[in-house]
Amino acid sequence: MKIIDRFSEWFELRKKIGASTLGFVPTMGSLHEGHLQLLRQSVEENDVTVLSVFVNPTQFNNLEDFQNYPKNLGKDVGLARSVNADYLFLPSYEELYPDDYTYRIHESSFSSIMEGAFRPGHFDGMLTVVMKLLMLVKADRAYFGEKDYQQLQLVRGLVRAFFLDTEIIGCPTLRDAEGLALSSRNSRLTAGELIAAAAFPALLADVELSDAVVRERLEALGFSVDYVETHEDRRFGAIHVGDVRLIDNVFLSREES
Ligand code: PAF
Repeated sequence: MKIIDRFSEWFELRKKIGASTLGFVPTMGSLHEGHLQLLRQSVEENDVTVLSVFVNPTQFNNLEDFQNYPKNLGKDVGLARSVNADYLFLPSYEELYPDDYTYRIHESSFSSIMEGAFRPGHFDGMLTVVMKLLMLVKADRAYFGEKDYQQLQLVRGLVRAFFLDTEIIGCPTLRDAEGLALSSRNSRLTAGELIAAAAFPALLADVELSDAVVRERLEALGFSVDYVETHEDRRFGAIHVGDVRLIDNVFLSREES
């Protein structure tokens, strides 16, 4: 796996890759099994796979959250190699943001609810960096996890709105044995918090409960709840477990088994 941290080097390589199919997995690093699944799928479906690691400051609405975001580049390199990624792209802020973020992408509808309501500016930063990365990498396919379902839908909308030539592939959420969605932020939970947090996906998935009751039950368990909302048969939630914020969503199937 080749590591690239200069745009000039990437542009040369991109020319060489030419018409071979290119799969792209953008991440903020601290890779876990969920990211590895995206990489495996990309390796299987494309001739060449590029992973990017960039902890994007513009999508953090809170400086402390940005500073506490787990960073593990040494381990990430080994994990990316283990699944046969071809290139690891490590852009710098200076090259990615020559305008120092004076230009940005704003979506004015779906981005204003849920994560957008609780993390002002988050989706502007996310959409802007994804737009930049898609323009740079020029992938045939880009892979995103369904855990960040609102993000996934907004990225699909971005590609439609700006006629980008990359197919966006959504991949199912991976969960631990207790049902907790895998997330880089889980590494900041204590052993006790990890066990307690398993109630979160279980309550979200309970089709017998209304959103309001799910919220009440989460609060009764001691979590601070940002939102529990259902949109198009998918229930979304965000909670704070200690000082770690977790998000998740589950498709609510009401079919009798
Ligand atoms: O989901 C993430 O890790 C980030 O939001 C992304 C898509 C890499 C953009 O920074």
